[in-house]
Amino acid sequence: MFDLNLDNIDTGLQAPESEPHRQYHYMAKCRKLVAKLAAVKGRKLKYHVETFGCQMNFKDSEKLEGVLEAIGFEAEESEKADIVIYNTCTVRENANTKVYGRIGYLGKLKKQNPDMLIALCGCMMQEAVAVEKIKNSYRFVDLIFGTHNIYKLAELLWKVYGNRLSDNRAEHRHRMVIDIWKDTDRIVEELPSVLKYKFKAGVNIMFGCNNFCTYCIVPYVRGRERSRKYADILKEIRDMVSNGIVEVMLLGQNVNSYGKGLEDPISFAELLKQADSIDGIKRIRFMTSHPKDLSDELIDVMAHSRHICRHIHLPVQSGSDRILKAMNRHYTAADYMKLIGKLRDAMPDIAITTDIIVGFPTETEEDFSDTLKLCEEVGFDSAFTFIYSKRTGTPAAAMEEQVPDDVVKERFDRLLEVIQRSSEKRASSLAGKTVEVLVEELDREPNDGHSCMLTGRLENNLLVHFKGCPDMIGKLLNVKLDECRGFYFLGSIEE
Ligand code: SAH
Ligand code: SF4
Ligand code: F3S
Repeated sequence: MFDLNLDNIDTGLQAPESEPHRQYHYMAKCRKLVAKLAAVKGRKLKYHVETFGCQMNFKDSEKLEGVLEAIGFEAEESEKADIVIYNTCTVRENANTKVYGRIGYLGKLKKQNPDMLIALCGCMMQEAVAVEKIKNSYRFVDLIFGTHNIYKLAELLWKVYGNRLSDNRAEHRHRMVIDIWKDTDRIVEELPSVLKYKFKAGVNIMFGCNNFCTYCIVPYVRGRERSRKYADILKEIRDMVSNGIVEVMLLGQNVNSYGKGLEDPISFAELLKQADSIDGIKRIRFMTSHPKDLSDELIDVMAHSRHICRHIHLPVQSGSDRILKAMNRHYTAADYMKLIGKLRDAMPDIAITTDIIVGFPTETEEDFSDTLKLCEEVGFDSAFTFIYSKRTGTPAAAMEEQVPDDVVKERFDRLLEVIQRSSEKRASSLAGKTVEVLVEELDREPNDGHSCMLTGRLENNLLVHFKGCPDMIGKLLNVKLDECRGFYFLGSIEE
């Protein structure tokens, strides 16, 4: 067995071919170098990882931070760090625009500190146009990698440092290292990671997506769907729980199709059932569920589980059958309503949230009113509403009859109103009740010597603010929801 203790790795040896050993070899090498650089500077080297986008990216960033800490960097809140990594998102155009602006800002920081390393990774880097633009307009960037090889950070950093240190000719001093893979079926386990919270954590159960919804760029930038072995997932959850984690969020673009292609496959429902029986776990969440693959088995497992939160995020995208077909979603509005019926029959108190896109190409007023009608009928607990964004390379981008901006905006506002109404109605129905909450954050420091404001999360994902003390963070407490303030509550701890 290869020794994963970084101090014992002989960095003089040739790098092993197999993973994760190869990365541990490079981590040990980088660690020696980082220690030397720190000695020259007379202080520890600092890192800053900035994450854009979804839970998947947040999870990836925890892995990047794990490697950075293993090689001797310390976390730094601001972007004035020795290495800054932007883990990017490209799901909508505005995600992209935001990143370009921020890279410009990093360029200014680098002028003040030429030793600084700038790395970009994540979904946007899987797009050739984005990489071209960075190569041409942001030449100070040191490293670009994608979504498929984030596990290689140590090896890539070694290459960047190698370029810097070995080549003293000024014109060669700065060479951008670019390593982007189109796709991969590789899943590298057992790499370090730094969890953002001590009490809750995300767990990847699968990567990529095979659905090719016609508006969506994710399958192009995250590759084909592949599942982790269930034994690895369950082991990770057990290890987390023994380190104090009480809530896990199982992550995948379409968790309901978990398990396909595994040598020893199990269904997502079965995986949940096994996770539910892990000793010490208190809450299990998962996202995202695609309606087309939501099974009766899953509903049954949820209904009979002890720890699975009574909340499902079930993106509907549209209420018009014609648009759903054009989106390649493989269900109708009636199918969706049937699922809602089944979920509520099995769990009357379940919270249902969704994603909706307004202004998909060819969307008419009639299509849009079908969406409004569906939302009224379901009465969502909340919804993420998005204005359709054209993503180059997706089938929808080539569709004629893109809906004019002003029409989309007006529809978007009408949708928000409907969603707001149902959210408020659902939330206010809980006022006066006592519910279990996971205490997540300190809102305000103690001001009268002993009490401070805390934020807790309900099973349905809403937040409640109440008086307590900081050592309650990470605990499950019963809190009375005294007052509903629309999307959150004010409460008090039930003695
Ligand atoms: N895999 C998840 C969603 C991932 S992306 C699922 O299928 O449910 C998160 C959300 O972003 C999607 O549900 C969709 O509502 C929205 N989205 C994706 N592509 C978009 C686009 N081109 N324009 C606007 N919203 C988009
Ligand atoms: Fe995108 Fe559809 Fe895959 Fe979700 S299921 S990531 S919306 S292609
Ligand atoms: Fe964005 Fe990539 Fe997630 S495009 S939404 S970060 S999968």
